[in-house]
Order: sequence, then structure tokens, then C-alpha cells
Amino acid sequence: MLRVLEDRLPAVDAIVPLASPRSAGARLSWRGREWEVSVPGPGSFEGCDVALFSAGSGLSREWAPRAAGEGAVVVDNSSAWRMDPGVPLVVPEVNAGRASERPMGIIANPNCSTIQVVVPLEAIRRAAGLVRVVLSTYQSVSGAGQKGIAAYQAERDGGTSASSPFPGPIFGNVIPRIGPMGESGWTEEEEKMRNESRKILGMPGLEVAATCVRVPVEIGHAVTVAVETERPLEVEAAAAAIAAMPGVRLFDNSLDPLPLQTADTDEVYVGRLRRDPDRPNVLHMWIVADNLRKGAATNAVQIADVVLRG
Ligand SMILES: NC(=O)c1ccc[n+]([C@@H]2O[C@H](COP(=O)([O-])OP(=O)(O)OC[C@H]3O[C@@H](n4cnc5c(N)ncnc54)[C@H](OP(=O)(O)O)[C@@H]3O)[C@@H](O)[C@H]2O)c1
Repeated sequence: MLRVLEDRLPAVDAIVPLASPRSAGARLSWRGREWEVSVPGPGSFEGCDVALFSAGSGLSREWAPRAAGEGAVVVDNSSAWRMDPGVPLVVPEVNAGRASERPMGIIANPNCSTIQVVVPLEAIRRAAGLVRVVLSTYQSVSGAGQKGIAAYQAERDGGTSASSPFPGPIFGNVIPRIGPMGESGWTEEEEKMRNESRKILGMPGLEVAATCVRVPVEIGHAVTVAVETERPLEVEAAAAAIAAMPGVRLFDNSLDPLPLQTADTDEVYVGRLRRDPDRPNVLHMWIVADNLRKGAATNAVQIADVVLRG
């Protein structure tokens, strides 16, 4: 997030790095200066224009209102506030205007897989309307944070990790369960993709069914999507609409966008665009993005940019 901030927001010239007591006193280098890390406390956010939160839901629930009370606009990466009716859920390419409607001084950054999917979906919505979205994700281990990467690397190197966030071995494996599963049989991650897509697109009745799968890839989430549109949409017209979206790179069928090539980039990559063989109103596509950049840090910094521009 600090790197993205440095790259994309030249107007930001000062930061207040906050972390857990484990990191208190550590020094980090940003914009050619050293900054000391401290733990959050009363007054930590005074004088800050924006507070970027990425420390998990419990801490966000506790600290976001305090930061907002001290005058900072909170951009929260966790799921704590995403479905709160008083908190906008923003992907700037889709609904930047919502960022100004923030009665609680909090703006939520969506789930990583949802962010990369709603950008091309919005292009299709504008061209032909949306009825139903069926998707399957192939989510990298870094989506589970540092512990996810550590578990993958330990298993790859022949060991195990006691703090693995995964319900089974991830190296050489594929796990069709991300987050706890409710009585309905849908996992929390799948519910997030359904509910958050509806909120961002402003379509509370949109039919969305997701299957979320963890794969042994370090960085880069991939998603296959089948989209049913209100009106028939030729592949060429869909391609033109997707290619015209800011922040999207569309690939023709001669090349497939792959997770490895998205690492450290900010765009959403779309490929394998094709019409359903049986249903004229259904299109299929493959969407890939760096989950740590567009799926988290980049989108948060883009929201901060919208806020700072007023
Ligand atoms: N990874 C993704 O792709 C992704 C995408 C979208 C959203 N998110 C969400 O973002 C949040 C963070 O995920 P992450 O992957 O960035 O986790 P992470 O790599 O484990 O980082 C968590 C950060 O929170 C800090 N922290 C922990 N306890 C703290 C405390 N008591 N006070 C202040 N800071 C504290 C940690 O500080 P230390 O450095 O001192 O340990 C660390 O910097 C989660 O809610 C996650 O769901 C993650």
C-alpha cells in the first residue's frame, strides 16, 4: 500500500505508519525519508486527511469510528463495514461518485475478487444490462495475508506451517472453501462476492452465484465468469465495451492473461471472451488481477485519490 501510495499520489507528502505492538519503533523508508512505526492511540489520526486501514475486521470496527472522529476519512480494506448502509463500497471505475456519500466518514474497499470482477461487469451492464452472473474463482494464497504466503512456501519447501490459514495442504492442491461455511452451504467468501457485487453495481436483485477456490499460486486471482445480459450482445460489442473501461486490459484469443504477469500491476486483465454455445444472451470470460494491488492496495489508494480531489 505504501508503494502504491508513493507511485500514484505524488501530492501525499507525509504518513503516520501504525501497526501492532510487534512493530512499534520499527523504521520504514518512504519517499526518501525514514518514518517510525507506532501503535494506534488517542490522537493518532489528528491532522490526517485519509486513514488507510488494513489490519482485519475487529480492529477496523474498533478504530475506524475513532479515526473518523479525529477528522480522517477512513478507507477500510477489511470486511467490517462493507455492507453497512451508511458506508459506501467503492471501485472507482464503477461508482467513484459514491465516495462522497459517507455520513460516517468511512468508505469500504471491497473484497479482492469482487473488485476485479465488477469492472468488466459494469462495462457489460452499460452495453446490454445484467441479469445473472455465475462465477468460479482461482484465488492465490496471498489473499489470506502473510500467513497464507508463509504456509504455501513452507509446504513447497517440504515443511508445514502451524499457522496455516487453510483447511488443508495448499501446495500441489486446490481447496474449494474460502472462509467459514454457513448452513446454506455457501462460504463467507461466496456470500461476499454476491452481496458486494450487488451493492457496488447498485443492483440489489442481481442474480450472483459464486464458487470460491484457493489455488497454489502466490499472487494473482483468476475468475471465470458467465454473464447473462438483458439484451443479446455480440462478442465484438462486448469486447469494445470492456476495452473502453479505464483500468482494463483486454486480450484477444491469441494470448491468455495469466496470474504471474499481473503481479505488481494495477490493471484488470480480461481474456477468453466468448459467446455461450447455447444461450445468445450469455457471455463467458476470464478475469485476472493482482489481488494485493487492484484487489486491495491500488483500489484503496484510488479511493483516497477520489477523496483528496474532493
Ligand atoms: N490480502 C489480500 O489480498 C486482501 C485483499 C483485500 C482485503 N484484505 C483485508 O485486509 C485486511 C488485512 O489483510 P492483510 O492480508 O493485509 O493482512 P496481513 O498481511 O496479516 O497484515 C495485517 C496488518 O495489521 C497490523 N496489525 C495487527 N494487529 C494490530 C493492532 N493491534 N494494531 C495495529 N495494527 C495491527 C499488522 O501489524 P504488524 O506488521 O505489526 O504485524 C499488519 O501490518 C484483512 O481484513 C483482509 O481481509 C486483504
